[in-house]
Amino acid sequence: MSKDGATLALRGRLLWFVGDPHEIGEAAHRYVEDGLLVIENGLIRAAGEAKELLPTLPGGAAITDHRPHLIMPGFIDAHIHMPQTQVVASYGAQLMEWLNKYTFVEEQKLAQQGHAQKLSAFLLDELLASGTTTAAVYCSVHKGSAEAFFVESHRRNTRMIAGKVMMDRNAPPALTDTAESGYADSKDLIGRWHGKGRQLYAITPRFAVTSTPEQMAASQRLVEEHPDCFVQTHINENRAEIAFARELYPDAADYAGIYEDYGLLGKKSLLGHCIHMTKREWRAFAAHGAVAVFCPTSNLFLGSGLFDWDRARREGVKVAVATDIGGGTSYSMLRTMAEAYKILQLQGQSLSAFEALHAITLGNTVALGLDHLIGSFEPGREADIVVLDPAATRAMAHRLETVRDLAEEFFVLVTLGDERNVAATYVAGELVSACSTN
Ligand code: GUN
Ligand code: ZN
Repeated sequence: MSKDGATLALRGRLLWFVGDPHEIGEAAHRYVEDGLLVIENGLIRAAGEAKELLPTLPGGAAITDHRPHLIMPGFIDAHIHMPQTQVVASYGAQLMEWLNKYTFVEEQKLAQQGHAQKLSAFLLDELLASGTTTAAVYCSVHKGSAEAFFVESHRRNTRMIAGKVMMDRNAPPALTDTAESGYADSKDLIGRWHGKGRQLYAITPRFAVTSTPEQMAASQRLVEEHPDCFVQTHINENRAEIAFARELYPDAADYAGIYEDYGLLGKKSLLGHCIHMTKREWRAFAAHGAVAVFCPTSNLFLGSGLFDWDRARREGVKVAVATDIGGGTSYSMLRTMAEAYKILQLQGQSLSAFEALHAITLGNTVALGLDHLIGSFEPGREADIVVLDPAATRAMAHRLETVRDLAEEFFVLVTLGDERNVAATYVAGELVSACSTN
């Protein structure tokens, strides 16, 4: 075990990123065919050639041989809903109907603390089994749901960002808080959990449609009092949603303007979807350093539209990628990027395997401002790791017989891969048991 000071080393094919392949091409990744990853006290000590690092290991160091598997930093999911694990795959509706008919029904069940605990434990185990070691998580409106999630995450020592949803209108009475109670409950949770172990808090007004101006002002107070917390919300996902939000806030310049008016569009703000954006909204995102969160499987499943990644790049807007379970249909960040590729194809845009693998590791941690802690194998980073078997399925093993280089192999992994390819997951240098479906 590495936590108590002993050294652990993982041997295998190492892949990690030191920059963005879209900007610097091949120079963005590090690949070591016979590599060694040395972990001490839950942190990366070194990553490099096995033949060079093996002689430097202290006596008694434990070596786990993962050859021929691929060892990467754990995946990051920038937007997911803990209460929606039993909403996934609900038939036939677009956003507003889907929320009212399915989501708000399921979310009411989290008033029961035991149910919140069960769903939190399920989500964390499913994420780890999919190779995801950090996520930005929406809980339900109930304070106890965020408490349950943080308890389960703290127990697993996972680095998670989470928050209690704030919503005080346009939802069933059993699912609404008030401007005052939403503020007080969020503040109490921040005090209890933000910075405790590896836990981080996200102030979470669900979206402008379900928050009154009074609640938006309360969210603003929370942000001003806790500037190091994240903010997470939704924007510009669906035409009917946009029309409703504009009707509720007629004085705002546009949908982004609503959040802007309440100081909710900052560097730590993660805004889900960003599909139907105006020129001014892109500019506002860039000016404030806000993050657009691309949720491919959800955008396809709910028929929301196609995220324009090239436009975000041109406008200088940071992009993160996410599953958005339960609008999304897969917990796997590999599957998520396969669908991202198709969304971009429909718009004449491209996404290489290196760009996709960068996006779900270093790219997401840069967008979240956590790249000094996680997302790569630079010395000192927390040792959250996924071990992948690219040949885990018959079809993938068969296809891999014909690949000629790494770019082709990794493109097969991104296009056909999912949780079946996860051979092991490590959290802060500890092997997680519930990680393999092989
Ligand atoms: N907008 C507001 N709430 C939600 C949600 O739970 N899922 C999605 N996809 N969009 C939302
Ligand atoms: Zn969402």
